[in-house]
Amino acid sequence: MDTSLVTCALFIQCILMLVNMTFSDKCLQISACACKSSNGTIDLSPLSKPPPGDLSRFTTKIGDDPRNPNAIYHYNPCNPMKVACSTDSKCAVCQQVNKDQNYSAGSQSSAVMAGDPDIGQLNITYQYNGRTSVVKIECDQSQEGVFEPDPGEKELLIYIFKLRTKYGCYSYPAPPNSEPGHNGISIGSILVIIFFVLLLVYIVGGMLFLHYVRGAQGIETFPNLAFWKELPFLVKDGIVFVFRGCKTDVTYTKI
Ligand SMILES: *[C@@H]1O[C@H](CO)[C@@H](O)[C@H](O)[C@H]1NC(C)=O
Ligand SMILES: *[C@@H]1O[C@H](CO)[C@@H](O)[C@H](O)[C@H]1NC(C)=O
Ligand SMILES: *[C@@H]1O[C@H](CO)[C@@H](O)[C@H](O)[C@H]1NC(C)=O
Repeated sequence: MDTSLVTCALFIQCILMLVNMTFSDKCLQISACACKSSNGTIDLSPLSKPPPGDLSRFTTKIGDDPRNPNAIYHYNPCNPMKVACSTDSKCAVCQQVNKDQNYSAGSQSSAVMAGDPDIGQLNITYQYNGRTSVVKIECDQSQEGVFEPDPGEKELLIYIFKLRTKYGCYSYPAPPNSEPGHNGISIGSILVIIFFVLLLVYIVGGMLFLHYVRGAQGIETFPNLAFWKELPFLVKDGIVFVFRGCKTDVTYTKI
């Protein structure tokens, strides 16, 4: 087997793992209106019930929109609207141009939640039949929910809104009186702990095995000693290999 190829793969894997553990803390979507990161959960589902008699939880107008100044926009963050909007029976954003004419500006099933709430950039994007709605979620502890047009630029068939709500803030799922130490352990630290436990088992187990079964003495009881002695050179090879673009150099392999 080509050891430098293996080392190269291991090296890249390690780098990816490090990068992943450092930067992977986006808010990962877990439902049409909720996402989760190590900082907590954002869940808009308390905003899923329309007020009695209304079609949707929120309604707004984009008054200064030259395309359709009178259109009304209905928005339901979590569940489809009870009535169909145009041909969309699972509508999240409905553009009501007038009493008899409406267009879905986004289906509930198309909801994509993306961005980083820590820097105030969390969006839910919806689509239906060429129309797109972007709802920017803003953390505002003082509001149950305020839905309004975003004053940004207006593009054809793209509708941008803002939802200011306390449910747009991270809720820290740390109930009081729960056993301490159980909260706040991230997957990353669990993996690190597992890694060190396995490492310990490997070294201690290996030493016992080599000592009692193979009769090894002193430093020779260290498992896979030859490999560990060679590791620095393998790593060096691996780095050189990676910087060459992982191509096997003919003269290099001959050495
Ligand atoms: C968690 O929240 C704190 C405080 O808002 C922020 O400074 C930090 O960057 C966040 N951490 C991650 C990993 O998102
Ligand atoms: C859309 O229009 C149709 C008929 O024109 C109506 O039955 C339906 O309730 C409207 N939907 C919404 C969400 O306004
Ligand atoms: C959120 O939507 C706005 C408006 O479309 C866009 O400029 C921004 O890049 C989006 N942010 C993320 C994180 O998707």
